[in-house]
Order: sequence, then C-alpha cells, then structure tokens
Amino acid sequence: MAARGSFDSRLGFILASAGSAVGLGNIWKFPFEVGQGGGAAFVVIYLICCFVLCYPIMVAEIAIGRKTQRNAVGAFNALGFKSWNFVGYLGVIAGLVILSFYNVIAAWAFGYFWEIIGANFAIGQQFGEFTANWVKVGLYAIIFMSTTAFVVSRGISGGIERAAKILMPVLLVLVLGLVAYAMTLDHSMVGLKFYLQPDFSKVTPSVVYSALSQAFFSLSLGMGALITFGSYVSRQTNIVSAGAIITVTDVSVAVLAGLMMFPFVAYMTQGDLDAMKAVSGGPGFIFVTLPGIFESLGPMLGRIVGGVFFLLLSFAAFTSTMSLMEVPAAYLVDEKKISRPKATWILATAIFLIGIPSLLSYGAVEMLGNLKLPGVAKSMPFLDIVAMISDIILPLGGFLIATFVTLAWKRRNFDEELAVGDEALRGSWLQGYVNFSIAWICPFILGAMFIITILETFFGMNIIN
Ligand code: TRP
Repeated sequence: MAARGSFDSRLGFILASAGSAVGLGNIWKFPFEVGQGGGAAFVVIYLICCFVLCYPIMVAEIAIGRKTQRNAVGAFNALGFKSWNFVGYLGVIAGLVILSFYNVIAAWAFGYFWEIIGANFAIGQQFGEFTANWVKVGLYAIIFMSTTAFVVSRGISGGIERAAKILMPVLLVLVLGLVAYAMTLDHSMVGLKFYLQPDFSKVTPSVVYSALSQAFFSLSLGMGALITFGSYVSRQTNIVSAGAIITVTDVSVAVLAGLMMFPFVAYMTQGDLDAMKAVSGGPGFIFVTLPGIFESLGPMLGRIVGGVFFLLLSFAAFTSTMSLMEVPAAYLVDEKKISRPKATWILATAIFLIGIPSLLSYGAVEMLGNLKLPGVAKSMPFLDIVAMISDIILPLGGFLIATFVTLAWKRRNFDEELAVGDEALRGSWLQGYVNFSIAWICPFILGAMFIITILETFFGMNIIN
C-alpha cells in the first residue's frame, strides 16, 4: 500500500480539492445559470444547496476515503460492504463520461486563449465555425488530455498536489484582478444590480433542480472524486474544517466570476437591462459574447484582459480534469494493479475516444448536433445530452453516499472517523449538523429530486411545474 502516494500537507490537499471544485462549472456555467435563473434568487438557492446538502456529503466522501485509503470502488469493499461498491463503479464511469465532454469545452477555452492573444476578436461571431473545426478542436483536446495524463501519471504529491500549489494561487490572483478591473468599467454598477437583485418570480422547480445539480457539479461531488482525494489525506488532518474551506473557496470563486462577468456585460450593452438579459442567458455566453466585450477594450488591452480570462478558464479546467482522471486512475492502480503511468495513458486515450461524438456534435457532424431524447421536447447536441446525464448522476451519487453512511456504515463509525484529527468535534453542533443532514435531509431531498427529474425529463410528466 505504501506505493499509493499521499498529499504532503493539509494545504496541498485543500488546494488540490479546491482546484477540483473550481472549474468550468464556476466560470463558464455558473454565470449563465444565474442569468437564466433569476439573478440573485438563483444564487441564494445555490448557496443553500451547497451548505445544507453538499457540504455534509463532501465531508462524508472525504471520511470514507480517509478511513479506507482506497479508491472509490475499493473503499466500499474495504469497509466490508461489497454490495455497495456499485456506487464506486458509478463514480468511475461518471468520471469518464464527464471528462469526455468536459475536455471538449476545455479545448474550446484553450483554443480561445490563442485566438484572443492573436487579436482575433471576431472569434465570438465565429463560435459555430470554431467548434465545427474538429481537427483544430481535436488537437487542443489531445493537448489538454495529454497534459492532464502527464501530471496525473506523476502521482499525488509529485503531480496533482504540485500542479495545484502553483495553479491555484495564480488562478485566485487572476480572478481577483479581473473582478477589480471589471469594476472600473462604465455601467459596472448596473451589472452588479442585475446580478445581485433577486427575481424570485423566475424560480421554478426546474431552476431549483439546476441549482442543485450545479452545486454538485461545482463541488465535484457524487462520484467519488473526494473519496479518492480523501484516501490520500493523513490522519492528522481535520477533514470537517478542510471540507468547509473547500466549499467556501469554490462558492466564492463562483460568486466572484459573476462579479466579473456582469459588469462586462453591462459595459457592452451600455447598461441596457433587456440587452443584458438577452446576452447573458446561455451556454454560448462566454464564447460568443465575451470576445466582443474584449474587443471594445481596444486591441492591446483587449488582448491582455481577454487572454488572461481564457488562460484563467484553462487553468481552472485543468485542475478539474486532473481530479476527474484521478478517480478511474486510482481504481486501475489499486484494484487492477496497473502502474500509474500506464493507467493514465490508457485513460487519456479512452477518454478522448469516448469524447469524439461530443467533439463532433457542435457543427462537424449535423446528425450529432440534433439528437432527440424520448420525452425531451427540443433536440440537442450530443455533448449537451452527456452533460445532462451527468447532472442527473451526481445528485444520485450524493443520495447513495448519504444512504450508505446512514444505513450501512452507520453513524457511530462516521462520527468516529470525523473525530480523527479533531477530537474537539465530538458532540459539537457542527458534527450534529453534518449528521443530521446526511441522515435526514440528503436522502429524502435528493431521492425525491432524482425521481422527479427522471419522470419529467424522460417520461414527459409534469409533476411540480
Ligand atoms: N467541479 C468542476 C467544475 O466546477 C468539475 C469537476 C471536477 C467535477 N471534478 C469533478 C464534477 C468530479 C463532478 C465530479 O468545473
């Protein structure tokens, strides 16, 4: 077991986990979901999901990992519950599936970095042509996946932890710099008002569900990523406070991303509210709208600010792809006794191949761009379908983990593990809070949400709308 590797320090673990959490979900997805979901009303629901449901599950995942020192599948075996290891398998598969489309979007971000640096601001209008160019995007995707595989192949402290220790501070500085800069633009206050004023009339059950799945995705929960990272954490580490720091960091970066994006949008639309609504509400937001905004800053400044932005996006995506790859990698290393370098290169190849339909679904192959699911009214690109499926799997994984802790592992063992590294936690309100949520809130809310979503999405039923 000595060869598994471990994090060198508590800070390293926190940075790697925060790096996993902070990603395209925060910077690409969060702002447009806010735009669609009623501004601050969405933010409030999102925050409730993060702290009431997700944080306790994060702590549970880390506890399972640290207790067993095993990958997502092996952890359930090691605790003596082999029949639950399907939860781990679900996580390994989810890791591959998420990476397959995530890597394509990361490739767009990385490609955009070069376009903007080269002063090609028209790329915003040419988003469709850009994504249709599968050779180019495919190349960026190969570069992204290979770099990820390279770092993951170097192990935990020498690879993932090291990269996170460099990239995370840089990323935080870049975000703060961009926020500060955005505040100086004309109409920035109008942008902030749009962002921070809640419109609760927009909140429908489906907005609540997007906030929930966004919280799971953004915090990297529900597929054993934190079981895996937790398995490399020392027994001196206080995992309850580490989990809190990771959650707060991730949420802060998402909120900051909004603080930078909405002033940008207000600047471009000259503070016109309707125009702001029109441009900020979709997945194309970053790729279609932002280049135009950078252009309006002038050729030099536009290249700098825009370049920094897409570099930030690429770094954020990179620390996330590392953690996504680590889940199946740890499984192959622990359970199949495959060497780490070999496992990572097998995975990189497999992920790229699985991602090909996603890669081709934005313009390269017509048919893949317009797929219809039974029960879903509008047709969607293959990539969006894969993303939608992962949005359903993650809360399901959270439900299963909470149920596992409550019914199988049992509260007293969970409490015992939480107290390792922090004796003061025994009997504290924080421990009570985590326990209460895991036993009584998560299973019921997540279980109900899962059933409702399946019925609504795939069977066209109208249950709460
Ligand atoms: N959290 C990342 C983001 O916000 C994505 C991610 C990385 C992820 N690892 C994960 C999502 C594990 C779910 C599970 O972009």
